[in-house]
Amino acid sequence: MSEEENLFPDLKNDLILKATRGENVSRVPVWVMRQAGRYLPEFRDLRVENEFFDVCRTPSLACEVTMMPIKKYDLDAAIIFSDILVIPQALGMQVEMQKGKGPVFPKPLLDATDIKLLNVDVDVKIELKYVLDAITLTRKTLDGKCPLIGFAGAPWTLMAYMIEGGGSKTYSKVKKCLYVDPESCKNLLSILTRVCIDFLVEQVKSGAQLLQVFDSHAGELSADMFNIFCLPYLKDIATSVKKRLGPNQSVPMIVFAKGSHYALKDLGESDYDVIALDWTMNIEDARRLCPHKTLMGNLDPCALYSSKEDIDTRVKKMIQMFGTSKYIANLGHGIYPDVDPDHMEAFVNAVHRHSQSL
Ligand code: CP3
Repeated sequence: MSEEENLFPDLKNDLILKATRGENVSRVPVWVMRQAGRYLPEFRDLRVENEFFDVCRTPSLACEVTMMPIKKYDLDAAIIFSDILVIPQALGMQVEMQKGKGPVFPKPLLDATDIKLLNVDVDVKIELKYVLDAITLTRKTLDGKCPLIGFAGAPWTLMAYMIEGGGSKTYSKVKKCLYVDPESCKNLLSILTRVCIDFLVEQVKSGAQLLQVFDSHAGELSADMFNIFCLPYLKDIATSVKKRLGPNQSVPMIVFAKGSHYALKDLGESDYDVIALDWTMNIEDARRLCPHKTLMGNLDPCALYSSKEDIDTRVKKMIQMFGTSKYIANLGHGIYPDVDPDHMEAFVNAVHRHSQSL
């Protein structure tokens, strides 16, 4: 254990860490992507007075929001309140969070060569210090209740936002770049990969006990394009972060490449410890293709709109499919803002109840 780590309170709940190592657990660990977010009335209240990125940039507020679901539910991990788009911001791009619209880049990159405005030599220890400080404060505030997850957006997903200027139905602007100028795309993806690696390493040094890489737009690509523009960078991130941290400081890493059915075998052979599945993925296929990995997921976020009884039944079925070892229960994508917080509770409690009885 590193000296820095000794400064943090002892961990009282290590279920999720055990699950990542394939060790026996007394119950299946559970957390929910986007658990610190808009479905929580406490968060919406805090947002009335505070801009989204101001919350991200103020460690005391980011810590407060991270703790909201932890205080309310019996969760086995916390995820630091931040956003994947802090990396484009650190590179010098402006990002606005518009009501009802989501993230908007007023000046997106015109194409993958348009990187002259980017501060490609960014030092994340300086530009993203506020995230690192939020992690340290939150790790202390958690007081060992459960582990803290740090995260970053994957290069392809970040590049998609930077060129599309926000969300998109077709991703045709950024995909056009992949087809007409693959070499410049690879250059931009390499820049983003370097920043992701630096950022994730620093998050661990600041107190993150697991890491997740979000490739939310992976499924926009065909299998062969994924193999060129996603997979090598995703693999490099896991390998390099672990190499930089060394065996004593390394933490388990989760990859969520949404929609990338065709990539399960390759991800199963990567240096990630945990493969997160979306709700369209077949659990048996994933077990067969990733025999050495822990799996995470994958209830359809919309299932939380059903009755508490139905949620309970679906959770039981999900755990029966995954089994109770090498498994972390979660949704197949982030929780939606209009989900009833009591249904989140029904989900979390159902995981605990059923995984103890199965
Ligand atoms: O609870 C947590 O998971 C921690 C915080 C977190 C946020 N965003 C807070 C947030 C995390 C891990 C993210 C990741 C993120 N951000 C992803 C990857 C995961 C995914 O859902 O695919 C992506 C694609 C983004 C980009 C982003 N940020 C979008 C598309 C939006 C708008 C739509 C939405 O989902 O809310 C955001 C805004 C955002 N990020 C909010 C929160 C709580 C809501 C902003 C608000 O308060 O208005």
